[in-house]
Amino acid sequence: MSPKSSPSQRVLLTGGAGYIGSHVAVDLLNAGHEVVVVDNFVNSSSDSIAAIEGATGKSLTFIEADVTDRAKMVDVLTGHDISAVIHMAALKAVGESVEKPLSYYANNIGGLVTLLDAMAEAEVWHFVFSSSATVYGDAKEVPIPESAPLSATNPYGQTKLMAEQILRDTAISDDRWSILALRYFNPVGAHPSGQISEAPKGKPNNLMPSVMAAAKGDIDKVLVFGNDYDTVDGTGVRDYIHVMDLASGHVAALGSLVDRSGFDAYNLGLGSGVSVLELIAAAERASGRTIAYDIVDRRPGDVAASVADPSRALDELGWSAKLGVDQACEDTWRSQKIA
Ligand code: UFG
Repeated sequence: MSPKSSPSQRVLLTGGAGYIGSHVAVDLLNAGHEVVVVDNFVNSSSDSIAAIEGATGKSLTFIEADVTDRAKMVDVLTGHDISAVIHMAALKAVGESVEKPLSYYANNIGGLVTLLDAMAEAEVWHFVFSSSATVYGDAKEVPIPESAPLSATNPYGQTKLMAEQILRDTAISDDRWSILALRYFNPVGAHPSGQISEAPKGKPNNLMPSVMAAAKGDIDKVLVFGNDYDTVDGTGVRDYIHVMDLASGHVAALGSLVDRSGFDAYNLGLGSGVSVLELIAAAERASGRTIAYDIVDRRPGDVAASVADPSRALDELGWSAKLGVDQACEDTWRSQKIA
Protein backbone atom coordinates (compact mmCIF):
# COMPACT_ATOMS: atom_id res chain seq x y z
CA MET A 1 0.00 0.00 0.00
CA SER A 2 1.46 3.38 -0.91
CA PRO A 3 0.47 6.72 0.63
CA LYS A 4 -2.48 8.31 -1.13
CA SER A 5 -1.59 11.36 -3.14
CA SER A 6 -2.91 14.60 -1.73
CA PRO A 7 -3.82 17.94 -3.30
CA SER A 8 -0.98 20.42 -3.62
CA GLN A 9 -0.43 22.54 -0.51
CA ARG A 10 1.68 25.53 0.41
CA VAL A 11 3.80 24.14 3.19
CA LEU A 12 5.98 26.01 5.67
CA LEU A 13 8.98 23.80 6.48
CA THR A 14 10.93 25.06 9.48
CA GLY A 15 14.48 23.73 9.68
CA GLY A 16 14.25 22.92 5.98
CA ALA A 17 17.96 23.55 5.38
CA GLY A 18 18.99 20.84 7.85
CA TYR A 19 19.81 17.22 7.16
CA ILE A 20 16.33 15.78 7.51
CA GLY A 21 14.57 18.99 6.50
CA SER A 22 16.32 19.24 3.15
CA HIS A 23 15.31 15.68 2.27
CA VAL A 24 11.73 16.40 3.32
CA ALA A 25 11.81 19.51 1.10
CA VAL A 26 12.91 17.35 -1.86
CA ASP A 27 10.07 14.91 -1.33
CA LEU A 28 7.47 17.66 -0.87
CA LEU A 29 8.56 19.37 -4.09
CA ASN A 30 8.54 16.05 -5.95
CA ALA A 31 5.01 15.38 -4.65
CA GLY A 32 3.90 18.70 -6.19
CA HIS A 33 3.68 20.82 -3.03
CA GLU A 34 4.92 24.40 -2.81
CA VAL A 35 7.55 24.81 -0.12
CA VAL A 36 8.56 27.79 2.00
CA VAL A 37 11.64 27.03 4.08
CA VAL A 38 12.46 28.95 7.24
CA ASP A 39 15.85 28.25 8.81
CA ASN A 40 18.33 30.16 10.97
CA PHE A 41 21.34 28.07 9.83
CA VAL A 42 22.29 27.18 13.41
CA ASN A 43 23.24 23.68 12.23
CA SER A 44 22.97 24.00 8.45
CA SER A 45 24.01 26.27 5.59
CA SER A 46 22.51 27.97 2.55
CA ASP A 47 24.26 25.36 0.35
CA SER A 48 21.46 22.94 1.10
CA ILE A 49 18.85 25.24 -0.49
CA ALA A 50 20.73 25.12 -3.79
CA ALA A 51 21.16 21.35 -3.35
CA ILE A 52 17.40 20.84 -2.86
CA GLU A 53 16.67 22.85 -6.00
CA GLY A 54 19.41 20.99 -7.89
CA ALA A 55 18.08 17.58 -6.85
CA THR A 56 14.48 18.38 -7.83
CA GLY A 57 14.82 20.88 -10.66
CA LYS A 58 12.18 22.90 -8.77
CA SER A 59 12.43 26.09 -6.80
CA LEU A 60 11.34 26.91 -3.28
CA THR A 61 11.01 30.06 -1.22
CA PHE A 62 13.67 30.51 1.44
CA ILE A 63 13.48 32.88 4.40
CA GLU A 64 16.31 33.20 6.92
CA ALA A 65 14.49 33.59 10.22
CA ASP A 66 14.11 32.15 13.69
CA VAL A 67 10.93 30.37 14.76
CA THR A 68 11.08 32.19 18.09
CA ASP A 69 10.33 35.45 16.21
CA ARG A 70 6.51 35.52 16.49
CA ALA A 71 5.85 38.58 14.32
CA LYS A 72 8.03 37.16 11.56
CA MET A 73 6.24 33.81 11.70
CA VAL A 74 2.80 35.47 11.42
CA ASP A 75 4.17 37.43 8.49
CA VAL A 76 5.47 34.31 6.74
CA LEU A 77 2.27 32.30 7.38
CA THR A 78 -0.07 34.99 6.10
CA GLY A 79 2.21 36.46 3.43
CA HIS A 80 2.71 33.07 1.75
CA ASP A 81 -0.82 31.78 2.25
CA ILE A 82 0.47 28.71 4.10
CA SER A 83 -1.96 25.80 4.60
CA ALA A 84 0.22 23.49 6.73
CA VAL A 85 3.42 23.61 8.77
CA ILE A 86 6.05 20.90 9.14
CA HIS A 87 8.14 21.93 12.13
CA MET A 88 11.65 20.50 12.15
CA ALA A 89 13.67 23.46 13.43
CA ALA A 90 15.16 22.36 16.74
CA LEU A 91 18.38 21.55 18.54
CA LYS A 92 19.09 17.81 18.64
CA ALA A 93 22.30 16.83 20.42
CA VAL A 94 21.70 14.86 23.62
CA GLY A 95 25.10 15.67 25.21
CA GLU A 96 24.88 19.38 24.41
CA SER A 97 21.37 19.48 25.91
CA VAL A 98 22.80 18.37 29.27
CA GLU A 99 25.34 21.21 29.15
CA LYS A 100 22.95 23.88 27.82
CA PRO A 101 19.44 22.93 28.93
CA LEU A 102 18.10 26.50 28.72
CA SER A 103 19.15 26.76 25.13
CA TYR A 104 17.21 23.55 24.40
CA TYR A 105 14.10 24.69 26.25
CA ALA A 106 14.24 28.16 24.64
CA ASN A 107 14.63 26.84 21.10
CA ASN A 108 12.66 23.60 21.16
CA ILE A 109 9.86 24.60 23.53
CA GLY A 110 9.93 28.38 23.06
CA GLY A 111 10.07 27.95 19.29
CA LEU A 112 7.19 25.48 19.26
CA VAL A 113 4.90 27.61 21.46
CA THR A 114 5.65 30.74 19.45
CA LEU A 115 5.02 28.98 16.17
CA LEU A 116 1.71 27.48 17.33
CA ASP A 117 0.60 30.87 18.62
CA ALA A 118 1.52 32.50 15.30
CA MET A 119 -0.36 29.73 13.46
CA ALA A 120 -3.51 30.32 15.50
CA GLU A 121 -3.34 34.02 14.69
CA ALA A 122 -2.85 33.25 11.00
CA GLU A 123 -5.57 30.56 11.19
CA VAL A 124 -3.31 27.77 9.99
CA TRP A 125 -4.31 24.59 11.82
CA HIS A 126 -2.43 21.74 10.16
CA PHE A 127 0.81 20.76 11.84
CA VAL A 128 3.39 17.98 11.57
CA PHE A 129 5.99 17.81 14.32
CA SER A 130 9.46 16.20 14.33
CA SER A 131 9.43 14.03 17.42
CA SER A 132 11.82 11.24 18.29
CA ALA A 133 11.95 7.69 19.56
CA THR A 134 13.78 9.26 22.48
CA VAL A 135 10.30 9.78 24.02
CA TYR A 136 10.23 6.05 24.82
CA GLY A 137 13.24 6.30 27.16
CA ASP A 138 14.54 2.81 27.93
CA ALA A 139 11.58 0.88 26.50
CA LYS A 140 10.68 -2.44 28.06
CA GLU A 141 8.88 -3.70 24.96
CA VAL A 142 10.87 -3.91 21.70
CA PRO A 143 9.67 -3.43 18.90
CA ILE A 144 8.13 -0.35 20.50
CA PRO A 145 4.46 0.50 19.80
CA GLU A 146 3.18 4.09 20.07
CA SER A 147 1.23 3.05 23.17
CA ALA A 148 4.46 2.32 25.12
CA PRO A 149 5.07 4.42 28.25
CA LEU A 150 6.84 7.72 27.59
CA SER A 151 9.81 9.09 29.53
CA ALA A 152 12.92 11.20 29.08
CA THR A 153 16.44 10.88 30.41
CA ASN A 154 17.97 14.18 29.27
CA PRO A 155 16.86 17.76 28.45
CA TYR A 156 16.69 17.04 24.70
CA GLY A 157 14.33 14.13 25.34
CA GLN A 158 12.33 16.29 27.77
CA THR A 159 11.79 18.87 25.05
CA LYS A 160 10.30 16.22 22.74
CA LEU A 161 8.13 14.82 25.52
CA MET A 162 6.92 18.28 26.58
CA ALA A 163 6.37 19.26 22.97
CA GLU A 164 4.07 16.29 22.45
CA GLN A 165 2.12 17.24 25.60
CA ILE A 166 1.83 20.85 24.39
CA LEU A 167 0.52 19.56 21.07
CA ARG A 168 -1.98 17.23 22.77
CA ASP A 169 -3.32 20.11 24.90
CA THR A 170 -3.38 22.50 21.94
CA ALA A 171 -5.35 20.02 19.83
CA ILE A 172 -7.93 19.63 22.61
CA SER A 173 -8.37 23.41 22.93
CA ASP A 174 -9.78 23.93 19.43
CA ASP A 175 -11.01 21.22 17.10
CA ARG A 176 -9.72 23.01 14.04
CA TRP A 177 -6.25 21.76 14.93
CA SER A 178 -5.00 18.66 13.13
CA ILE A 179 -1.63 17.68 14.55
CA LEU A 180 0.68 14.74 14.03
CA ALA A 181 3.93 13.96 15.85
CA LEU A 182 6.31 11.71 13.94
CA ARG A 183 8.61 9.75 16.21
CA TYR A 184 11.79 9.20 14.23
CA PHE A 185 13.99 6.26 15.00
CA ASN A 186 17.60 6.64 13.73
CA PRO A 187 17.75 8.63 10.48
CA VAL A 188 20.62 7.71 8.13
CA GLY A 189 21.36 7.84 4.40
CA ALA A 190 21.14 10.60 1.83
CA HIS A 191 19.41 11.53 -1.40
CA PRO A 192 20.52 9.05 -4.12
CA SER A 193 21.92 11.91 -6.24
CA GLY A 194 24.65 12.34 -3.64
CA GLN A 195 24.05 16.09 -3.79
CA ILE A 196 22.57 16.44 -0.31
CA SER A 197 24.59 15.26 2.63
CA GLU A 198 24.56 15.40 6.39
CA ALA A 199 27.00 18.17 7.22
CA PRO A 200 26.82 18.59 10.98
CA LYS A 201 28.73 21.56 12.36
CA GLY A 202 31.34 20.42 14.87
CA LYS A 203 32.27 16.89 15.91
CA PRO A 204 29.91 14.09 14.78
CA ASN A 205 27.94 12.57 17.68
CA ASN A 206 26.05 9.91 15.80
CA LEU A 207 27.21 6.57 14.52
CA MET A 208 26.82 7.00 10.75
CA PRO A 209 28.80 10.27 10.49
CA SER A 210 31.57 8.67 12.59
CA VAL A 211 31.60 5.52 10.46
CA MET A 212 31.82 7.62 7.28
CA ALA A 213 34.59 9.78 8.77
CA ALA A 214 36.55 6.60 9.50
CA ALA A 215 35.93 5.25 5.97
CA LYS A 216 37.20 8.52 4.49
CA GLY A 217 40.24 8.54 6.78
CA ASP A 218 39.20 11.73 8.57
CA ILE A 219 39.40 9.82 11.85
CA ASP A 220 41.47 6.70 12.60
CA LYS A 221 38.76 4.58 14.17
CA VAL A 222 35.16 4.33 15.16
CA LEU A 223 34.73 4.11 18.91
CA VAL A 224 32.15 1.41 19.58
CA PHE A 225 30.37 2.29 22.80
CA GLY A 226 30.11 -1.07 24.57
CA ASN A 227 29.92 -4.70 23.44
CA ASP A 228 28.28 -6.16 26.52
CA TYR A 229 24.64 -5.33 25.83
CA ASP A 230 22.09 -8.11 25.62
CA THR A 231 21.93 -7.92 21.80
CA VAL A 232 22.94 -10.02 18.79
CA ASP A 233 26.67 -9.19 19.11
CA GLY A 234 26.72 -7.16 22.32
CA THR A 235 26.71 -3.76 20.59
CA GLY A 236 23.79 -1.33 20.58
CA VAL A 237 20.92 -2.10 18.23
CA ARG A 238 18.96 0.64 16.44
CA ASP A 239 16.28 0.97 13.80
CA TYR A 240 18.14 2.91 11.09
CA ILE A 241 15.64 4.55 8.78
CA HIS A 242 16.74 5.92 5.42
CA VAL A 243 16.17 9.67 5.29
CA MET A 244 14.28 9.32 1.98
CA ASP A 245 11.84 6.94 3.70
CA LEU A 246 11.59 9.40 6.58
CA ALA A 247 10.85 12.16 4.07
CA SER A 248 8.06 10.17 2.41
CA GLY A 249 6.57 9.63 5.89
CA HIS A 250 6.17 13.41 6.20
CA VAL A 251 4.46 13.66 2.83
CA ALA A 252 2.07 10.87 3.89
CA ALA A 253 1.41 12.60 7.24
CA LEU A 254 0.75 15.92 5.52
CA GLY A 255 -1.76 14.27 3.20
CA SER A 256 -3.66 12.72 6.12
CA LEU A 257 -4.09 15.99 8.08
CA VAL A 258 -7.14 17.09 6.11
CA ASP A 259 -9.10 13.96 7.04
CA ARG A 260 -8.58 14.17 10.79
CA SER A 261 -8.49 16.49 13.77
CA GLY A 262 -6.86 16.31 17.18
CA PHE A 263 -3.42 14.93 18.00
CA ASP A 264 -1.81 11.65 17.08
CA ALA A 265 1.71 10.19 17.05
CA TYR A 266 3.31 7.70 14.68
CA ASN A 267 6.56 5.78 14.72
CA LEU A 268 8.72 6.16 11.63
CA GLY A 269 11.09 3.21 11.49
CA LEU A 270 11.66 -0.06 9.62
CA GLY A 271 10.75 -2.39 12.43
CA SER A 272 14.10 -4.21 12.31
CA GLY A 273 17.26 -3.65 14.29
CA VAL A 274 20.90 -3.34 13.18
CA SER A 275 23.87 -3.49 15.56
CA VAL A 276 26.84 -1.10 15.56
CA LEU A 277 29.09 -3.82 14.14
CA GLU A 278 26.52 -4.68 11.47
CA LEU A 279 26.36 -1.03 10.43
CA ILE A 280 30.16 -0.84 10.23
CA ALA A 281 30.15 -3.99 8.05
CA ALA A 282 27.50 -2.47 5.75
CA ALA A 283 29.58 0.70 5.43
CA GLU A 284 32.64 -1.38 4.55
CA ARG A 285 30.68 -3.10 1.76
CA ALA A 286 29.37 0.21 0.46
CA SER A 287 32.70 2.02 0.52
CA GLY A 288 34.99 -0.88 -0.34
CA ARG A 289 37.21 0.29 2.52
CA THR A 290 38.21 -1.26 5.81
CA ILE A 291 36.83 0.60 8.81
CA ALA A 292 38.87 0.24 12.00
CA TYR A 293 37.13 0.35 15.35
CA ASP A 294 37.89 0.11 19.05
CA ILE A 295 35.51 -1.22 21.66
CA VAL A 296 35.29 1.32 24.48
CA ASP A 297 33.02 1.81 27.49
CA ARG A 298 29.29 2.20 27.13
CA ARG A 299 28.15 5.78 26.49
CA PRO A 300 26.13 7.02 29.49
CA GLY A 301 22.41 7.18 28.74
CA ASP A 302 22.49 4.73 25.80
CA VAL A 303 19.92 1.95 25.65
CA ALA A 304 20.64 -1.59 24.40
CA ALA A 305 18.01 -1.69 21.68
CA SER A 306 15.57 0.74 20.09
CA VAL A 307 13.41 -0.67 17.29
CA ALA A 308 10.06 0.63 16.05
CA ASP A 309 6.80 -1.17 15.69
CA PRO A 310 5.86 0.73 12.50
CA SER A 311 2.52 -1.00 11.86
CA ARG A 312 0.33 1.94 12.84
CA ALA A 313 1.89 4.22 10.19
CA LEU A 314 1.21 1.53 7.59
CA ASP A 315 -2.38 0.99 8.68
CA GLU A 316 -3.34 4.64 9.11
CA LEU A 317 -0.99 6.66 6.87
CA GLY A 318 -0.39 3.99 4.21
CA TRP A 319 3.33 4.50 4.73
CA SER A 320 6.15 2.05 5.27
CA ALA A 321 9.94 2.27 5.03
CA LYS A 322 11.43 0.54 2.01
CA LEU A 323 15.21 1.05 2.17
CA GLY A 324 17.67 -0.87 4.34
CA VAL A 325 21.09 0.00 5.76
CA ASP A 326 22.99 -1.23 2.70
CA GLN A 327 21.17 1.36 0.59
CA ALA A 328 21.68 3.97 3.31
CA CYS A 329 25.42 3.31 3.43
CA GLU A 330 25.75 3.40 -0.36
CA ASP A 331 23.86 6.70 -0.59
CA THR A 332 25.74 8.24 2.34
CA TRP A 333 29.08 7.17 0.89
CA ARG A 334 28.16 8.69 -2.50
CA SER A 335 27.24 11.98 -0.81
CA GLN A 336 30.51 11.98 1.15
CA LYS A 337 32.70 11.55 -1.88
CA ILE A 338 31.02 14.38 -3.75
CA ALA A 339 30.85 16.73 -0.79
N1 UFG B 1 27.61 4.57 18.74
C1 UFG B 1 28.90 4.09 18.79
N2 UFG B 1 29.91 4.95 18.46
C2 UFG B 1 29.68 6.26 18.05
C3 UFG B 1 28.35 6.72 18.02
C4 UFG B 1 27.33 5.85 18.38
O1 UFG B 1 29.15 2.94 19.13
O2 UFG B 1 30.65 6.98 17.77
C5 UFG B 1 26.51 3.63 19.04
C6 UFG B 1 25.62 4.05 20.18
O3 UFG B 1 26.11 3.54 21.39
C7 UFG B 1 24.28 3.41 19.77
C8 UFG B 1 24.31 3.48 18.25
O4 UFG B 1 25.69 3.61 17.89
O5 UFG B 1 24.25 2.06 20.15
C9 UFG B 1 23.56 4.66 17.67
O6 UFG B 1 24.03 5.87 18.27
P1 UFG B 1 23.66 7.31 17.68
O7 UFG B 1 24.38 8.32 18.50
O8 UFG B 1 23.88 7.32 16.21
O9 UFG B 1 22.11 7.37 17.90
P2 UFG B 1 21.27 7.24 19.27
O10 UFG B 1 20.40 6.05 19.10
O11 UFG B 1 22.09 7.32 20.46
O12 UFG B 1 20.48 8.62 19.21
C10 UFG B 1 19.49 8.85 18.26
C11 UFG B 1 19.39 10.33 17.98
C12 UFG B 1 18.93 11.07 19.21
C13 UFG B 1 17.71 10.42 19.81
C14 UFG B 1 17.93 8.94 20.02
C15 UFG B 1 16.73 8.21 20.52
O13 UFG B 1 20.63 10.86 17.58
O14 UFG B 1 18.61 12.38 18.84
O15 UFG B 1 18.30 8.34 18.76
O16 UFG B 1 15.71 8.31 19.62
F1 UFG B 1 17.44 10.98 21.01
